[in-house]
Amino acid sequence: MQNEIKDVLLDEDRISNITDRIAKQISADYNGRDLLLVCLLKGSFMFFSDIVRKLSIPCRVDFMQVSSYGSGTASSGKLTVKKDIDEKTENSHILVVDDIVDSGFTFYCIKDYFLNKKQACSVELCAMLDKPDRRRYDVDIKYIGTSVPDEFVVGYGLDYNEKYRNLPFIGILDPKVYETV
Ligand code: PRP
Repeated sequence: MQNEIKDVLLDEDRISNITDRIAKQISADYNGRDLLLVCLLKGSFMFFSDIVRKLSIPCRVDFMQVSSYGSGTASSGKLTVKKDIDEKTENSHILVVDDIVDSGFTFYCIKDYFLNKKQACSVELCAMLDKPDRRRYDVDIKYIGTSVPDEFVVGYGLDYNEKYRNLPFIGILDPKVYETV
């Protein structure tokens, strides 16, 4: 599996430094507020668990799964809610945790959903990776791990056709893997 990775972008130490920094910021910003952290499955499961365990404030957690991609590398432009959260959202401060922001479509839709259909007090986004070159929707990301180039990245929860999610680092997938499919 590792020989299908062209370059390592973020190793485990770098990821740990990033999650330390973001968890400290969240703990300071949300101190004293009713914080609900929403993990967007599947890609953010590792990032989410690293952030949550490093928070120094109380919070609730829940899990949501939506889909805006097909099985290839391009956004299909259609968002489907596959699993909704169960926690109450009224008067809550929601922080959506995602692995990567690409076009911005996913967060654009989710923010509207929580604010207008679920009466949340506030909805912000925390993303491990940002691909600014791919942005098509104007979204504000409150907490960003780091920006990455417009290449196919995998590992630390991110997949290609459900593979590579378990890699402990984030790397660029060798194009030969998807160009030969
Ligand atoms: C990916 C990623 C984000 C979304 C970003 O999810 O985890 O949720 O796409 O793209 P956007 O900014 O263009 O909306 P994906 O649908 O691949 O599901 P996964 O997390 O299960 O891999």
